[in-house]
Amino acid sequence: MERLQKVLAQAGIASRRKCEQIILAGRVEVNDEIVSELGTKVDVTEDIIKVDGKPIRSEEKIYLMFHKPKGVISSISDPEGRKVVTDYLTKVKQRVYPIGRLDYDTEGLLLLTNDGEFSNMLMHPKYKIPKHYHAVVKGVPHGNDLEKLRQGIMLEGKMTAPAEVEYADVQPDMSQSVISIIIHEGRNRQVRKMLEHIRADVLKLRRVNYGPLSLQGLSRGKYRHLSEQEVKSMKKLASKSH
Ligand code: URA
Repeated sequence: MERLQKVLAQAGIASRRKCEQIILAGRVEVNDEIVSELGTKVDVTEDIIKVDGKPIRSEEKIYLMFHKPKGVISSISDPEGRKVVTDYLTKVKQRVYPIGRLDYDTEGLLLLTNDGEFSNMLMHPKYKIPKHYHAVVKGVPHGNDLEKLRQGIMLEGKMTAPAEVEYADVQPDMSQSVISIIIHEGRNRQVRKMLEHIRADVLKLRRVNYGPLSLQGLSRGKYRHLSEQEVKSMKKLASKSH
């Protein structure tokens, strides 16, 4: 049994708060009776729930982890006909959307879901989910530059929040290195812009972790369902981190 406002929000009717207003306004029926009290519990598998007389869709919620290759758009369609992430989800019947974005040229961990509430929660800046990237760069950036990125730099008039930045690997001939960067924000092309700021040439960028979730064991272009435990841990992380 779940609270009616939560079920409505999960079905994509509106935000949870707006759903509360919709209930209070007497627009919601459960089994043909108007329910205008908040906190009413319903069973989505049995109760027939309508808003303004129309039954809501209560589709099974799915949560996927995808290893996005480079050269793929984090979107469900592209007017220019480029490859999109959902091209890889051939067996998934539900309409899922990416949670946030990875650039066309970035590879790595991307979550997709049809649970709008989950998605909004993870993308909301107040939850500060740590996102971990590995950047392969030309040469070896100076330690002072990494320190600058740790402290925060000015990007488009706004400081970046403190980040965790370390060397993950250095080629013996110093021709390339791998920089490990953990950020808690999700500004547009943030990691690339941070590295551009210290004049590092990015050869490859990959997201390796998203909160507690790791890309390990999932090959490029493949996806898997999150376990119940993983979904729970993401929800817990968001509820704790504000
Ligand atoms: N930062 C970037 O620069 N690109 C991404 O795809 C994600 C984070």
